[in-house]
Amino acid sequence: MTFKNIIVTGGAGFIGSNFVHYVVKHHPEVHVTVLDKLTYAGNKANLAGLPAERVELIVGDICDQTLVERLVADADAVVHYAAESHNDNSLIDPTPFIQTNIVGTSVLINACRKFDVRYHHISTDEVYGDLPLREDLPGHGEGEKFTPESPYRPSSPYSSSKASSDLLVRAWVRSFGLRATISNCSNNYGPYQHIEKFIPRQITNILSGIQPKLYGTGKNVRDWIHTNDHSRAVWQILTKGKIGETYLIGADGEQNNKDVLELILKLMGKSSSDYEQVKDRPGHDLRYAIDATKLRTELGWQPEFTDFETGLQHTIDWYTTHEDWWRAEKAAVEAKYAQNGQ
Ligand code: NAD
Ligand code: DAU
Repeated sequence: MTFKNIIVTGGAGFIGSNFVHYVVKHHPEVHVTVLDKLTYAGNKANLAGLPAERVELIVGDICDQTLVERLVADADAVVHYAAESHNDNSLIDPTPFIQTNIVGTSVLINACRKFDVRYHHISTDEVYGDLPLREDLPGHGEGEKFTPESPYRPSSPYSSSKASSDLLVRAWVRSFGLRATISNCSNNYGPYQHIEKFIPRQITNILSGIQPKLYGTGKNVRDWIHTNDHSRAVWQILTKGKIGETYLIGADGEQNNKDVLELILKLMGKSSSDYEQVKDRPGHDLRYAIDATKLRTELGWQPEFTDFETGLQHTIDWYTTHEDWWRAEKAAVEAKYAQNGQ
């Protein structure tokens, strides 16, 4: 399957903009229309330097049916990244999560149904809830991982809004023949990630002379994947995936938060104990882990960033050399966390 005109919603955010860079670099036949509301998490600078004849930014809301229908009518695929994406924000005010993640998705899939346009839905492993920590298992075995058959049991307002949107897509496939695929990916890291998120928050804290902040004891496990590997997987699914299928994306990158933080401190030349333990996140998911066998065997994908320390070093280098990208927001982000005891 080849595409000439794709819409990338949320293409000025972290993962969406990395996907746009990927498409421009590797698929010269494709024109990208980015539909992005430019919320606090969207940034035009994430698309700077991309050729105007390849990428057009439309500033607008995915909940705007008239705008969405006008754009979708001229497209041959929609890749839907736009979302409210931060768990901590959803615990303060869930409202925009319901609007953008659920209502926004319904507007997009209705438009794709109307104009019979291929749709790919970007989702998260968090829809499956959490897994027990390996150290709490009898015999400390490998532990279970999420598969496409895992039951949905989201924990937070964010993850439940993403789960709701996945279910809408599944129903539109079955009831209306929507030509859709879904991918559920684990925690991404890399350039252009908003500094409210764990890894860039700690890197920019250290660069600002602020002690890094670890929620609770730091035993919670996330399954880290470099965002470039996510982009390559999404392209494979968009072009070679089977309609109606769900693919899980992960790179066997399980790490607990304390280990990640200590590695950041080491790579940045600090003592590994130079951080502060702060109030834990309510309902904090314990462990995520992805079984990506289906993606690897059916679509031949495999990650290129297999060494987390190297990927993390590149990410530290990026934030160190792009202070102009994050500096203006740093004080406000930390003030918001401080109000919350974090
Ligand atoms: P992000 O918060 O960095 O970016 C979200 C983008 O969506 C921003 O550019 C924002 O302006 C835009 N947006 C928000 N509301 C909008 C609206 N109503 N209309 C149009 N644009 C709107 O998010 P991210 O971390 O890049 O995540 C992108 C997608 O990937 C999300 O769907 C998220 O659930 C999913 N995901 C994220 C991760 C992760 O580790 N960050 C992992 C798996 C899946
Ligand atoms: O699993 C995929 C999900 O990963 C995506 O769906 C979300 O959009 C994305 O934000 C991410 O969710 P998390 O909640 O796992 O990511 P976050 O960066 O917020 O936190 C990662 C871990 O680090 C989590 O266990 C909480 C912890 N943490 C976070 C912050 C911001 C800290 O210990 N200290 C911090 O300052």
